[in-house]
Amino acid sequence: MFNKSIIVLAAGAGTRMKSDTPKVLHKISGKPMLYYSIKEALKLSDDITVVLFHQAQRVQAEMEKYFSNINFVIQDHKNYPGTGGAVMGITPKYEKVLVLNGDMPLIQASELEKFDIDATIVMSVLKLESADGYGRVIIENGNVKKIVEQKDANATELAVTIANAGIYQFETKFLLENLPKLNNNNAQKEYYITDLVEMAIDQGKVLKPLVVNEENFKGVNSKVELADAEVIHQNRIKKEFLKAGVIMRLPDTIYIEEGVQIEGESIIENGVSLLGNSKIVNSHIKTNSVVEDSIVVDSDVGPMARIRPLSELNKTHIGNFVETKKAKLTGVKAGHLSYLGDCSIDEGTNIGCGTITCNYDGVNKHQTIIGKNVFVGSDT
Ligand code: UD1
Ligand code: MG
Repeated sequence: MFNKSIIVLAAGAGTRMKSDTPKVLHKISGKPMLYYSIKEALKLSDDITVVLFHQAQRVQAEMEKYFSNINFVIQDHKNYPGTGGAVMGITPKYEKVLVLNGDMPLIQASELEKFDIDATIVMSVLKLESADGYGRVIIENGNVKKIVEQKDANATELAVTIANAGIYQFETKFLLENLPKLNNNNAQKEYYITDLVEMAIDQGKVLKPLVVNEENFKGVNSKVELADAEVIHQNRIKKEFLKAGVIMRLPDTIYIEEGVQIEGESIIENGVSLLGNSKIVNSHIKTNSVVEDSIVVDSDVGPMARIRPLSELNKTHIGNFVETKKAKLTGVKAGHLSYLGDCSIDEGTNIGCGTITCNYDGVNKHQTIIGKNVFVGSDT
């Protein structure tokens, strides 16, 4: 049922990020940027190759936490640096191959489907107010002529506001025939995938520019762009939940990671963070509370409560300054100032203010079990 291979470029050093973490591992809504490109690619193909080089093992290990059915290859970066060098030596399974940059976390499969056009190259084009940071698409007499990288551009070319978004669909045959003809005669001494555009035109091949919107195709090269992209991504996540009937107070102040589920009649107040694989069902999470990798059902939490990983709250009331960790609470009231870690507490039990389940003796973690209808007084 699939008709195209996909190559995701993720070998670059990401110098502009000013970080020891490889660029594609910087996170958006709790997941590495590269996760999103691969996730969308998997909706369109069963032949996905991710190109790595800088800290390749680290990037591969991180991706293998999420995906099991993709190929990883190491770019010959020493001899063939650049986005063109990155696609060398790969043999795609299908007649068409879509090339994605790994630094585009806002990409969506529905947008990538639009590349299904019959042409030797379908290239993505952005019409911007300023194309700063992008390769410029040079158009003459209404036709694309070539792509010029910012670092190679002259003053006239720099003024061009039509940019290369960095996603292409190639006929595999054309790609394999022409990659060996690339050279590195440019400011960065790199092999540019973008030079294939001019080569296709010179050979009289059919080239189709596809105008795309920046919101989906935004390239992330710096921390500023990372922060901008995360705002867009957060808005998408929250909009989906709002449409599904969740109430949010001041949604701009709420942070919800990719993978969180919210169901039923839930209310999320301002300043709340919902992290990891949390699931909130018919619950009210009040101002400035944090829920991480936990399940909250028919309960209310906060304000200013911290529900740490592997907590399970059912029909439970958690008030201010209560911290839970790996706590299974069913029908419990813990109104204020408590630490409930590694414990299970059953229906009808009241946890007085200042209660701590001492779970750690310095060597081992221990479990506390409190049964039904227990009255635990303050300062316990
Ligand atoms: C690239 C395009 C530019 C386009 C922009 C869109 C080229 C030469 N330029 O520029 O025209 O406007 O994307 O965002 O293609 N990578 C490798 N191996 C390398 C170098 C890079 O795999 O040797 C990967 C990077 O990890 C990244 C992607 O290719 O995911 C793009 O590289 P990047 O350095 O970000 O290119 P841009 O300068 O953004
Ligand atoms: Mg880039």
